[in-house]
Amino acid sequence: IKSDPTVFVIFGGTGDLNMRKLAPALYNLYLDGWMPKQFSIIGTGRTKYTDEQYRQTLLDGINQFSRSGKADPVKWKAFSESVYYQSSDVKDHESYKEFGTRIEKHAADWKTKPNVIYYMAVSPNFFPIIASNLSKAKLTQDTKRVRVVIEKPFGHDLESAKELNQLLANIFDECQIYRIDHYLGKETVQNIMAFRFANSLFEPLWNRNYIEHVQISVTEQLGMGERGDYYDGSGALRDMIQNHLLQLLCLVAMETPINWESDEVRNRKVEVLRAMRPFTADDVRNSTVRGQYAKGWMEGKEVPGYREEAKVDPQSNTETFAAIKFFVDNWRWQGVPFYLRTGKRLHQSASVITIQFRDVPHKVFPSETSESWAQNRLIISIQPEMSIRLQVQAKRPGLDMILNPVDMVFDYKGTYSNQTPEAYETLLLDTMMGDQTLFMRGDQVESAWELVMPILNTWQNKKSLSFPNYSADSWGPESAEALIARDGFHWFTLP
Ligand code: BG6
Repeated sequence: IKSDPTVFVIFGGTGDLNMRKLAPALYNLYLDGWMPKQFSIIGTGRTKYTDEQYRQTLLDGINQFSRSGKADPVKWKAFSESVYYQSSDVKDHESYKEFGTRIEKHAADWKTKPNVIYYMAVSPNFFPIIASNLSKAKLTQDTKRVRVVIEKPFGHDLESAKELNQLLANIFDECQIYRIDHYLGKETVQNIMAFRFANSLFEPLWNRNYIEHVQISVTEQLGMGERGDYYDGSGALRDMIQNHLLQLLCLVAMETPINWESDEVRNRKVEVLRAMRPFTADDVRNSTVRGQYAKGWMEGKEVPGYREEAKVDPQSNTETFAAIKFFVDNWRWQGVPFYLRTGKRLHQSASVITIQFRDVPHKVFPSETSESWAQNRLIISIQPEMSIRLQVQAKRPGLDMILNPVDMVFDYKGTYSNQTPEAYETLLLDTMMGDQTLFMRGDQVESAWELVMPILNTWQNKKSLSFPNYSADSWGPESAEALIARDGFHWFTLP
């Protein structure tokens, strides 16, 4: 099934996100036969380009960043005939009238009303003005066909997220609003739901009786690059935990939905956020750790510390690492800690969810096998390795009865030969199809902000005196080890 004819208007059409992610994703959807027969992509920005010049910039992006490699000249030509550019000033009403004219022209040419998707790939300061001006130009009223995609960050704190939700609610119906969290579009992340709810094997064990603790770890080797100005006002808690990591937690902890409808799934997820134990001042002291990287060596190259990065305050107190212990106060999860950690300039880039099951109630075999690492683990590796491993105990071949842990592995590479789509392909296609399951609903975003606010406030009011407190290429501050070691566990890493 393909979507109806569609017009994309991409604000931030000359920006990095469009070059690296959106244009390659749309092109790959086209190659794989997912684009509707009639579509049009209108990039817009302040720069003056002709359609031809603009097409060339997108082609450069695709050649560099598309998963399918360099564009095929014949296919690119056919695709790019539907790509246009309109220079615009987001404050200028005339620009919006022109979008209206273009959309009407497509409707006349195609002899049908198209879906229209306004994609805000711009800095969040521009979300309100663009939304208001679209509304003033009467481009938002068709609740069935008009959609708006809002990139992250959605708010800077609870208050600003509520304000933005309110502003959008005055203009759009919730069914028109697609708030992006690109983690939800990742193939392996979608598979968490399939794995949990399409197998009878795991769900009976998926609770406090059998699960001892959960770890969600998203570590990155990357440093700031060009993003210092944005990141220095944000930090790891806002940039990664409030959105991506809490969404992963929701997928692990949610109750079984009765079907795959978007609001049913999103209701189950938001219930998790509502059940999460709020942080007291003591909890912030005892259950959270923040860090900032110092300079160091990575892969043979010296890299600067965070405070030496471009566009970062040399005395910055922004955290580039966070580790937090959460609890979900409900029947299923009472007492089970969820440890989340994320950070920049760490030893390995890996996003891994580890579910550690409780130890066996009685040990039949000799004591060498009874260490905590010998417990069963389910290891969901999201990236770069895409796999699910079930760690079980087995007898090591030999004359004595010694056990060791072995992995039963489902590995995408070994199982499937075709390439997996990029997160943005899935999410753009869902936007065209009008499926909001993998997008954040307004109340979800607010609940996640509500949860992290006490941590944010405490961190903001109390400068860290020990920053920087971890060196590049490490696993973060020592206190992050201590946080989990106090409970008798340790952070799991894939070899
Ligand atoms: C973004 C953050 O949302 O996600 C970045 O702003 C981070 O700081 C990125 O690097 C990680 O995404 P991925 O898909 O590379 O894991």
